[in-house]
Amino acid sequence: MAVRSTPSPTLSKEIILNVNGMEHELIVESRTTLAEALRINLGLTGTKLGCNRAMCGSCTVIADGLPIFSCTTLAVETQGKSIQTIEGLEKNGKLDPLQVSFIEEDAVQCGICIPGMIMSSKALLDKCDNPTEEEVMDAIAGNLCRCGTYPNTIKAVLAAAKMGYGR
Ligand code: FES
Ligand code: FES
Repeated sequence: MAVRSTPSPTLSKEIILNVNGMEHELIVESRTTLAEALRINLGLTGTKLGCNRAMCGSCTVIADGLPIFSCTTLAVETQGKSIQTIEGLEKNGKLDPLQVSFIEEDAVQCGICIPGMIMSSKALLDKCDNPTEEEVMDAIAGNLCRCGTYPNTIKAVLAAAKMGYGR
């Protein structure tokens, strides 16, 4: 079912984005980034904006199975792609097992980097159900955590894989 967002008088282009399995008709400017479309047009503020210039990874979402920085991807470029955000992980009121693993391994401090960390980790686990520690480190290499939760983040991803995530 298509959901129509509220148009802004300054916006100029009509696009359809498939986000978390649902099609949304939006009116955006050509320069609108995917992060802006998600956060402002669709109210999906789980995708965080840290640097807004492809340096921190907090805005990471998945597009057609690949993690991308939504702050430097234009919304118009993502038409026709299947976009997954952190909000799409919860099912029937239950957190995704990867989210649970982040909590159980105490990988969350201030939390700003976590949606991006989880989406990068999910993109890895969706194609590799038994990653090595090095593969996890590679997968989150573009995600900066100012609180330094890397060791517990790696533990959380490996624990989720061990529990059968993605299988
Ligand atoms: S907000 Fe996109 S990489 Fe930092
Ligand atoms: S938990 Fe604070 S930046 Fe990562």
